[in-house]
Amino acid sequence: MRDLSATNKLVGTMLRKKLIAANWKMYKTPEQTREFFRAFLPMIAGHERSELVVCPPYVDLHAAFDSAHGSGIAIGAQNVFWKEDGAYTGEVSCSMLKSTGCTHVIIGHSERRQYFGESDETVNLRLKAALHAGLTPIVCVGEVLEEREAGLTEDVLRRQCLRALDAISGERAHKLVMAYEPVWAIGTGKTATPTMAVEAHITIRAEASKSLGKEVASKMRILYGGSVKPENAKSLMLEEEIDGALVGGASLDARSFASIVMY
Ligand code: PGA
Repeated sequence: MRDLSATNKLVGTMLRKKLIAANWKMYKTPEQTREFFRAFLPMIAGHERSELVVCPPYVDLHAAFDSAHGSGIAIGAQNVFWKEDGAYTGEVSCSMLKSTGCTHVIIGHSERRQYFGESDETVNLRLKAALHAGLTPIVCVGEVLEEREAGLTEDVLRRQCLRALDAISGERAHKLVMAYEPVWAIGTGKTATPTMAVEAHITIRAEASKSLGKEVASKMRILYGGSVKPENAKSLMLEEEIDGALVGGASLDARSFASIVMY
C-alpha cells in the first residue's frame, strides 16, 4: 500500500527550500555591517542549499543591501508599520523598506510583543500590509515558559496563528513564512529539542491550513528560532518539518553564522 503520509512529507521537503535568517536585533552600525559581509561572503561562497536573509537594524539596510549585492543573500527588516505614510513618528512603511532593496520583514518577534506592546492584532495588521506590498513576512509565534509548563503550548500557538492570519486569503499568503520561537529559548542558551520544535511546527501548519488552505500551508516554510548555534543547527535542520532557522545572537559573528549556514 502506498504510504500517503510519507509521500506528503516528501512533497513538503521538495516544495520547501530551507531559509536561514539572521536577526541582528539592535546590534551593528553600517560600518560593522559592511565588515560582517566582507568576512561572511567568502566563508559561504558556493553555498546554494538554503536561502539566506540578513535582517539588520533599519539604519543598516542600505549598507547591507550594498554589501550583499550579487551574493544572492536577501535583506530584511525587523519590523514594519502598516500605514503607507503619515504623521507616525518613528515608524517605517513597507514602501520605504522596499526602496532600500529590502525584500523580507520579521513581524511579531517576541521582543516586540514583550517590550513594545505588540499584540496578535497588530501582528495581523503588519502582516496584511507586508503581503499587500509584496514583502516576504516572517511571522513569529511562540509560548513563554509558564505556558509550556502549564501544558498550554498548543493553545497559545493556535491562538497566535489564528489571530495573525485573520482575514488573510491563501492566495495572498503564498510568500508567508512563519517562525516558531519559544520565548524561553530566545537568547537564553536553551534550545527546544528537535522533537519539541517539530511538534510545534505541526501545530502551526495545521492552524495555517485552516486559515489559508491546505495547499498554501503545505508549501509554507516554518523556521525554528531560539538559541540556534553552530553546535545544534544540524540536528534541528535535519528535521523535515523544520524549514530553516531564525538566528539571533549567533548570527552577529560571521564565522558562527557561516557554520550554521554550512551545518
Ligand atoms: P537567539 O534569538 O538566537 O539569540 O536566541 C533568536 C531570535 O530572537 O530570533
